[in-house]
Amino acid sequence: MTQTSPAQLTLGDKTITLPVSKGTLGPDVLDIRKLYAETDAFTYDPGFTSTASCESKITFIDGDAGVLLHRGYPIGQLAEKSSFLEVCYLLLHGELPQAAEYEQFETTITRHTMLHEQFDRFFSGFRRDAHPMAVMTGAVGALSAFYHDSLDIHDLRQREISAHRLIAKMPTIAARAFKYSVGQPFVHPLNKLSYTENFLRMCFAVPAEEYVVNPVVAKAMDRIFILHADHEQNASTSTVRLAGSSGANPFACIAAGIACLWGPSHGGANEEALNMLKEIGTPERVKEFVAGVKDRKYRLMGFGHRVYKNYDPRATVMKQSADEVLAAVGDPNDPLFQVAKELEQVALSDDFFISRKLYPNVDFYSGITLSAMGFPTTMFTVLFALARTVGWIAQWKEMIEDPSQKIGRPRQLYTGATQRDYVPISSRG
Ligand code: SDX
Repeated sequence: MTQTSPAQLTLGDKTITLPVSKGTLGPDVLDIRKLYAETDAFTYDPGFTSTASCESKITFIDGDAGVLLHRGYPIGQLAEKSSFLEVCYLLLHGELPQAAEYEQFETTITRHTMLHEQFDRFFSGFRRDAHPMAVMTGAVGALSAFYHDSLDIHDLRQREISAHRLIAKMPTIAARAFKYSVGQPFVHPLNKLSYTENFLRMCFAVPAEEYVVNPVVAKAMDRIFILHADHEQNASTSTVRLAGSSGANPFACIAAGIACLWGPSHGGANEEALNMLKEIGTPERVKEFVAGVKDRKYRLMGFGHRVYKNYDPRATVMKQSADEVLAAVGDPNDPLFQVAKELEQVALSDDFFISRKLYPNVDFYSGITLSAMGFPTTMFTVLFALARTVGWIAQWKEMIEDPSQKIGRPRQLYTGATQRDYVPISSRG
């Protein structure tokens, strides 16, 4: 970052100078680290709408222009030309890999896909109808009980091993969470398959017959993983960073991120969006539903975003994937896809949404595609968590390796009771 002309702040009878820093892209930042010491005042920004929590080189979003870059590469180009595992390398290392680097990375990840035999017993403690996100939150947190040899966060090599283990094992754990929920036997990873083919086979293969991965589905799944890989300082990534700032081990931090992602305002929106489309049912009922949204009866799930005040570039790619997958394995005239397209068209021509800059986000079309692939709605956020693990761990690594890093400890605006003395119960009321 570079310094630009400082800002002056006058508070009561004090005037202080605040340094202003400029990044390579995006808004400048006012450095307020000395504000409290010099003015005895805090800034106030619930929801962090105007707060940069860190310096990062990983992902850039221009919400007004609908731009998303990973290490400078546009999401549309990565989705079209790259692979999820190559994007993992890019997010972790900052550059696209040379052929030999990629081959070594792919081999490393492939060799870490298995789970400790004892780990499988963990699943049997859950009810079969447990939400798979509950299973993921518990199972991923439990990984730290199995990998004591890579918990020293100050050791570069151990940080790398933890990152590789998490990226490699998330598909195996996610597939087991799915198999457990449908009462089918677990399927072990098969190293000769690609990362995404392996995941699909672990989800949908059964011992009774050969399973051949559909290449159209594998390509769409890999692209969906790319679209969900990282997204700047969103709620779950900020959760991972805050948990990591205390020195917690990476497995515990990722489990915290999974828990946060589960919320319907965040990663849980893909499940809610499909449930919403099912509730609407037909294109003819869209107008009635939109009227209910405008009357504040409910929100349009999969629409709106804290940062994007334009079309989420990931939603564009997701919509194309829906077309491809429905043509390959689903119903090209899938009624829910027709409802979604009608809903988008009605919303984007209605001033309620236009004035609030509400557009489809990554979650609006993803459910239709995942459902056509054979996933139940309860697995949608699990797939989001699987893909986002690389973004979480890349951001966690960046924070740990930042020499200015310290434990995150926000303050507050206190509006509670002033000091008062205890009153015995016999004297109250
Ligand atoms: C993700 O941060 C990330 O990057 C997240 C994510 C990632 O990759 O990590 O992109 C993934 O979480 C995508 C978002 C998924 N969530 C949803 O689709 C749930 C529905 N969307 C919203 O609840 C909402 O849009 C948020 C939570 C996403 C953003 O909300 P904000 O920025 O806090 O905005 P807001 O709630 O203050 O809304 C501003 C106005 C309000 O109207 P007024 O009170 O000003 O009149 O817009 C309205 C809101 O009522 N509004 C909506 C709406 N979203 C906002 N009205 C109807 N439907 C919606 N979806």
